[in-house]
Amino acid sequence: MKKTILSGSTVTGNLTLGNYIGAISNWTKLQNEYDCLYFLADLHALTVQQDPKILKDRIYSFYAQYLALGLDPQKNTIFVQSQVPYHTELSWILTCLTPMGYLNRMTQFKEKAERHVKNVNAGLFTYPVLMAADILLYQVDMVPVGEDQRQHMELARDIVGFWENRYGPGIFKLPEAYVGKVGARIMSLQDPSKKMSKSDDNEKNFIAIIDDPKVVEKKIKSATTDSDTVVKYDLENKAGLANLMNIYSVMTGKSFEEIEKLYEGKMYGHLKVDLAEIVVSTLTPVREKYLDLMKNQDYLDKLMNEGAMKAEARSEATLKKVYEATGLVPRKR
Ligand code: TYM
Repeated sequence: MKKTILSGSTVTGNLTLGNYIGAISNWTKLQNEYDCLYFLADLHALTVQQDPKILKDRIYSFYAQYLALGLDPQKNTIFVQSQVPYHTELSWILTCLTPMGYLNRMTQFKEKAERHVKNVNAGLFTYPVLMAADILLYQVDMVPVGEDQRQHMELARDIVGFWENRYGPGIFKLPEAYVGKVGARIMSLQDPSKKMSKSDDNEKNFIAIIDDPKVVEKKIKSATTDSDTVVKYDLENKAGLANLMNIYSVMTGKSFEEIEKLYEGKMYGHLKVDLAEIVVSTLTPVREKYLDLMKNQDYLDKLMNEGAMKAEARSEATLKKVYEATGLVPRKR
């Protein structure tokens, strides 16, 4: 029996090089060995204010980006979260078991609450419970994520404990986070003290998967580095350069020492020019495939429907057990 893997991305902004390196490149590797479910977390996106038209366009765009990045709809179950209502049902039941104190500790909540002072809604606070429901519905073994999701993953495991204390064991599988050894935290290009984020207001901070090649080039060339010239990996004193070297290393398979050797006696500018070329050559075919897929919304609709039906069929059994354990009476079908 293949092990089961699930992961997703919130539908805000545009998928970035950080999402690709930290998560999606691992998803594509895992799809051959594991039984994988990959989804678009569109309900999570509603925790911050969304323009309905933009959200709708983005759902198609993200789905097409997943496919263009190499996720195969035949091998995997690729679906949109809101098209499988069991996620929200389970989320409510788990919300009623999760102590507020645990949610208060979530650093992402604190950061987002500071950024969206005018819209600190209850969904932003309970967001990690919905994430736990996403995972627990499918009896998942492993969840490939970037470093920033580790705390949410721990909460998902805690929630299994809250459930078992109240209702006993045997329904949910305890999921493990799978965080890649390299590239689990790609930083912002202009401010390497913070992570590269797809919802950053300053577009120069991130590279979008579907950015025009000229834009990618410009963003890398203008990335913040220090005033020194020696290419050396030094996270503490040369954070901007270290971030570029990290991207370089993940995308070429070269170690930091190899990169240092390659640029001995050369300036940062040389590395930036080469890195731009490396990133552009990886992203250009993805962008072309993406633009092609976006011309055929009917095809995307068909795949989304098939994905949602497969996901619903797989999660139904868990929800049925949850209804029985909690004393709720499932509707007879
Ligand atoms: P999201 O949309 O913020 O990010 C999607 C994935 O990309 C990783 N990531 C990064 N990795 C390296 N460097 C970066 N700068 C970087 N930025 C993002 C994230 O760690 C993530 O793996 N809450 C989740 C979505 C979600 C989910 C789930 C994930 C909802 N339910 C269930 C797994 C399982 C999120 O907002 O990811």
